[in-house]
Amino acid sequence: MERDIQEVLLSEEQIRARIAELGEELSRDYAGKNPVIVGVLKGVVVFYADMIRQIKVPCQMDFMVISSYSGTDSTGTAVVKKDVDVDLKGRHVLILEDIFDTGNSLNFTYHNLLAREPASLKICTLLDKPERRKEGITLQADYVGFTIPNAFVVGYGLDYNELYRNLPYVGVLKPEVYQ
Ligand code: IMP
Ligand code: MG
Repeated sequence: MERDIQEVLLSEEQIRARIAELGEELSRDYAGKNPVIVGVLKGVVVFYADMIRQIKVPCQMDFMVISSYSGTDSTGTAVVKKDVDVDLKGRHVLILEDIFDTGNSLNFTYHNLLAREPASLKICTLLDKPERRKEGITLQADYVGFTIPNAFVVGYGLDYNELYRNLPYVGVLKPEVYQ
């Protein structure tokens, strides 16, 4: 696994320190709001587990599975394969995502949840790759762990063909692995 990694982009220590900072910010912003923290599976699972423990105010955990077809023609079409269990109407909702890339999946998730009339709806993404954003997507993340260059990254929940999610850091995959 390790030998397929070209470079460690974000070390375990860097990620831990940044999540602690985000935790302070989120704990401040969501004090007294009992937010629903919606994780989009499954890339988010490692970030979610670490992030939630740095949010020091009462909150509820929930999850969605979205299947997107952005790989084919970039129409942004997606479907909800697993929905949240809780009624989001009037609730403060925070979406947690692993990566904001073209924006197709986050754009879909955001508007899907917005239609349920939450009291507020915000986005927290561990990674943001703004160079990759699809034209016309104006959505912005409210909380960003790290803004990264346009490289394919794996680890800390992120996969290539379902592999590498269990690496404890975020690394750049050697291009020969996927070319
Ligand atoms: P989108 O292009 O913003 O819709 O991102 C769709 C999904 O592609 C993300 O939720 C990730 O699962 C995956 N993805 C995008 N960029 C990367 C990457 O650099 N490494 C691994 N997965 C990625
Ligand atoms: Mg993925």
